[in-house]
Amino acid sequence: MSDISSAQKQIIDAFNFRHACKVFDPERRISDGQFNTILEAARLSPSSFGFESWQILMVQSPEKRELFRDFAWGANGATNGTAGQLGTASHFAILLAHTDATMKHHSEYLQQHMREVKQLPEEVVGFINQAYEKFQKSDFGIEGKRQITDWSARQAYIALGNMMTVAAMLGIDSCPIEGFDMARTSATLEQHFGIDPESYQPAVMVAFGYRAGEPPFAKTRRDMDQIVSWY
Ligand SMILES: Cc1cc2nc3c(=O)[nH]c(=O)nc-3n(C[C@H](O)[C@H](O)[C@H](O)COP(=O)(O)O)c2cc1C
Repeated sequence: MSDISSAQKQIIDAFNFRHACKVFDPERRISDGQFNTILEAARLSPSSFGFESWQILMVQSPEKRELFRDFAWGANGATNGTAGQLGTASHFAILLAHTDATMKHHSEYLQQHMREVKQLPEEVVGFINQAYEKFQKSDFGIEGKRQITDWSARQAYIALGNMMTVAAMLGIDSCPIEGFDMARTSATLEQHFGIDPESYQPAVMVAFGYRAGEPPFAKTRRDMDQIVSWY
């Protein structure tokens, strides 16, 4: 088998291995080294304009995780009578989306990000400010807190996907989680984690660990010709 085909097999095996894991083995913990690789996959992920419009909040304390149980119906095991992903995951993350406070064109935050993180020269900063203003106002029509936050969350989902794929390649299970009450999650983040809702809103949660049992269902997907059109 050539190198290319063995890499292809590794990739497809990882995608077949990954499933939305509902219950993890609570006794098994992901090593720090492996979890750092998952975090690196997020950190190195692409984002529109390179603005990295998301944060990752790791919720490891069992007490802190319990704060979400009542309204995180997609992670509390209510559907299968277990402690759910919240109660069994080795690692539990909440991806936060930046709001318009930082992501509106010409914001102070973006000036600093372009200069200090991206190390762009002044003339390029000026050019990107103009292009990003046009992008927000007319190209994509993304204006106001909700729309800008949703755009940030779209970038967060790229990191989410990469984290889950890298986990699967390491034999680590995961579950993406949108099953939560947005307003109550935001209020809990403010009250118990000091997250200012004017600056950050929850985008998606994701749990990692090792499956407690085999997936109950075989993977189902549409056929390729139902998904892809070639012209
Ligand atoms: C953005 C997103 C949010 C999801 N939210 C939940 C959730 O709250 N709880 C859950 O158990 N599964 C959740 N899922 C898992 C999906 O139901 C699952 O990916 C889908 O049914 C396909 O199954 P598979 O991932 O096992 O192949 C979510 C998936 C995605 C991509």
